[in-house]
Amino acid sequence: MSARSRSSSPEFDPLAFDQDFTPLPEYKAPTDTALDFGGLLPEPLKLHEDLKTGCGGQLWPAGMTLAKHMLRYHGDKLQKARILEIGAGGGLVGLAVAKGCSFETPMYITDQLEMEELMAYNTTLNGLNDKVKSMILNWGEPLPEEIVALKPDTILAADCVYFEPAFPLLLQTLKDLLALEPSATVYFCFKKRRRADMQFLKAARKTFKITELEDQDRPVFSREGLFLYAFTRK
Ligand SMILES: C[S@@+](CC[C@H](N)C(=O)[O-])C[C@H]1O[C@@H](n2cnc3c(N)ncnc32)[C@H](O)[C@@H]1O
Repeated sequence: MSARSRSSSPEFDPLAFDQDFTPLPEYKAPTDTALDFGGLLPEPLKLHEDLKTGCGGQLWPAGMTLAKHMLRYHGDKLQKARILEIGAGGGLVGLAVAKGCSFETPMYITDQLEMEELMAYNTTLNGLNDKVKSMILNWGEPLPEEIVALKPDTILAADCVYFEPAFPLLLQTLKDLLALEPSATVYFCFKKRRRADMQFLKAARKTFKITELEDQDRPVFSREGLFLYAFTRK
């Protein structure tokens, strides 16, 4: 498969992964969840979780960590931001930011076709249609026109490092985004599950400036194998 071609996320099958893999979250039946991120949201975010179309249909640990980080440290700093989430799944991070932070320009939450319905459903569930647009953005493919026009300067990416064949595609999209808006920051959180995940970071370090983000929860999430960084242009 060429680095520019589309790659689906893997089947949600823990047995499909290597032995040195920390298990994925347990496969669970569709459910509705309400999250206030430890009191960071005055009114809980409602999320429908459903794995029928892909693994992004449930909450992932890096998404929870990044959502909390954005709410705690960026609540009042995004007024002029142009926000894009990639690999949004059901919209956990973007919708939490939309609920808890104020910003003027509607944000985009994006994923593959399989997740489009769930992103849109969760956006409506929270009454956020004025602040959030959901759309398809396949890593490794040319950026959609709307995104090129938006020139996002605040990019959210949580738990996007989990499927090795997609690493070059993800890197390409991040490169394209930072070329489009050289002052952009990518808020990037992932959980190390396999040794290969660190290869992604190694490749990313060659291309971007990578800085650890300060966060009061770092001692806790570090113990759980979670990494939280800002990627900026070198
Ligand atoms: C592990 S889930 C994380 C979902 C969400 N960010 C969270 O933290 O809960 C990874 C997401 O990346 C998406 N993804 C995987 N490969 C992709 C690709 N080639 N292009 C766009 N999205 C992709 C999947 O569909 C999935 O929703």
